[in-house]
This record gives sequence, C-alpha cells and structure tokens, in this order.
Amino acid sequence: MRAVVFDTYGAPEVLRLEEVERPVPKADEVRVKIHATTVTRSDCAVRAGKPFISRFFTGLRRPKQRILGTELAGEVEAVGAAVSEFAVGDHVFGTTSAFRFGTHAEFICMQESAPLAHKPAGMSFEEAAAVCDGAILALMCLRPAGLRKGQRILVYGASGSIGTAGVQLAGYFQADVTAVCNTKNLELARSLGADRVIDYTQEDFTKNGETYDVIFDAVGKHSFKRCQGSLKRDGVYLATDGLRNLFLALWTSRLGGKKVLFPIPPRYTKKDVLFLKELIETGRYRAVIDRRYPLEEVVEATRYVETKQKTGNVVLTIGIA
Ligand SMILES: NC(=O)c1ccc[n+]([C@@H]2O[C@H](COP(=O)([O-])OP(=O)(O)OC[C@H]3O[C@@H](n4cnc5c(N)ncnc54)[C@H](OP(=O)(O)O)[C@@H]3O)[C@@H](O)[C@H]2O)c1
Repeated sequence: MRAVVFDTYGAPEVLRLEEVERPVPKADEVRVKIHATTVTRSDCAVRAGKPFISRFFTGLRRPKQRILGTELAGEVEAVGAAVSEFAVGDHVFGTTSAFRFGTHAEFICMQESAPLAHKPAGMSFEEAAAVCDGAILALMCLRPAGLRKGQRILVYGASGSIGTAGVQLAGYFQADVTAVCNTKNLELARSLGADRVIDYTQEDFTKNGETYDVIFDAVGKHSFKRCQGSLKRDGVYLATDGLRNLFLALWTSRLGGKKVLFPIPPRYTKKDVLFLKELIETGRYRAVIDRRYPLEEVVEATRYVETKQKTGNVVLTIGIA
C-alpha cells in the first residue's frame, strides 16, 4: 500500500510517499481502507521532534513510528474472526489511540475497541475525518472545568481545530460563549453558536472589564498571568499548550481561588467518538474544514498547518476526488 513515511525528525520535506506492506488484521481488528485523514498540530510536533523532551516517547534518535496521522474516515475492508461490531463495507470514522499514528496511508488495522465508530449518515468522508482530534481534545479540557448551564466561558483562538470544537461543545454544555478570533473568522464563530464574538485585532478582552468562569486558551497563545483579571473569583484558565502551564496547574491546585487546568496526556476513547456521532446526527456538531489536499501533497498540507493559521482542520484525501 502507499503511505507517507519519515525516518528522521525535521522539516515537512522529510515526509515522502513509499510503498509499504499492507497490514494484516488480527482476530480482534478491522482493516480500514482510508478515504480521508488530516494533518494535525500533533503530527507536526512529532515529525519535527519538538519539544525535544517528546522524543523520549516518540524515539530518541529517530522516530519509532514511520507513519503519522491520527484521524480517519473510510471503509472496512477486512475483519478479524472475533470482530462483531463491524462488517466488510461499513463506513467508519474515528482516531487512533493516544500516541498511536498510522492514518497517512491507504490502510490501517485497528482494534474493534479502538476509538472507531460507524460514520454518521450523510456526512462526507472528508468531514468525518476532521471530527475527532480537535473535539476530543476540547472535551478533555471542558469536562474537568465542570462547565455548567449559564456559566460564562471565553474561547481564545476560536478558529482553530480545538477552538471551533470548543465553541460548539461549550454551547452543548449550555454555557454563555464568547469567542475570540481574527476579523475573518467572526462570522464562522457566530455560526458555530458563539453568543458573543471579539475580534482580537480590534479589542483586547483582558481590558474590557468582563469576567468569565472559564477562559479556554484553545490555541496556546495566551497566559494565565494576562487572563487573571478577566477570571471570576474561582475561575479556571484552561491550557492546551506550554510547559509552564503544567507547573501552574500543580501550583494553583494547592491554593484556593483561580486555577490553571492543563489536562494531559490526551485520551481518545470509543465512548467519545460515539458521543460526537450523536451530536453530529442531531445537528449539534460539525467539523470545520479549511483546505483539502490529496495524500500526494502531504508536504504542502503540512507546511500550511505549520503556518498556525488554519481555520479548523486540514484534510488529506486518499483515492477520492
Ligand atoms: N494538549 C494536547 O494534547 C494538544 C494536542 C494537539 C495540539 N495541542 C496544542 O493546542 C493548540 C491548538 O491546536 P489547534 O490544532 O487547534 O491549532 P490550530 O488549528 O493550528 O490553530 C490555528 C488557529 O488559531 C488562530 N490564531 C493564531 N494565533 C492566534 C492568536 N494570537 N490569537 C487568537 N487566535 C489565533 C488562527 O487564526 P488567525 O491566525 O487568523 O488568528 C487559526 O485559526 C496548539 O498550541 C497545539 O500545539 C495540544
């Protein structure tokens, strides 16, 4: 099968298409013919081998896993003898488990119990491939924050993969949502259900006197220090990036008052994929797609993701126009 492989950490150009052996499903696995996948910020970080400390998990001298990619949508093409949930021909979507990759390829084998589910009816493979990563990362942050009906949340970086998911999921939790993004994405944020929008090129939310129960820094560009004045007395700053936030999370957990939460490592479960499927089927969630590239253009797609300016998600298509 064709797959995008890399053997050394570095710039996007280390990625190349290669013929590799097609995986064979074990008894409890399905083999999925992948029609669409995505390039995520996690793929980029692993490929670059940055921060260096991450190489203790991904391979110190060279990457342990040659094929990147976590999200997928496609068709079940073979099933192991013990599989009962899926049959050949089923359309599926999902993500690999944390720290597992391998979807930048024509086929992948996944356990039946993996974060995989039947694709929502009427959803394209491209859209379905772009559902899980940002949404599950957003859920992983929002749940421990204990967001309740009517509470005020500000989503900073509301136009990214985690941000577009965060706005929609905070709406699902019936919170009052303020989305902060660039001028060009204000309409998108409104369409995702934001009650209020702030254009960060025009207004600094930390100076407008408003306060929030939760500030969700969905793009890792803000800081607890700068947000503190905009948090209510027991407010929570939700972090998605930055080593310093790990220390701040530990430190503030010992004190009363405003807190930093930085829920890592990520955990992707079938239960969450099924939860998202239900939200999609009841019209309460949609994947935001910025650009689509064929698998052959993975280097260009990766360069674009690395501008850190994508809106929502960047999809790779495999064998579909
Ligand atoms: N915790 C985890 O396990 C985990 C896993 C994956 C990723 N991450 C981290 O989570 C963060 C978000 O990832 P992502 O994939 O959602 O990001 P992304 O999609 O690449 O975010 C890009 C978006 O952020 C907006 N943006 C850029 N600079 C901004 C700023 N200063 N203020 C407000 N918005 C800004 C961009 O729009 P404009 O440029 O137009 O404003 C763009 O729409 C990253 O820091 C990533 O490293 C964490």
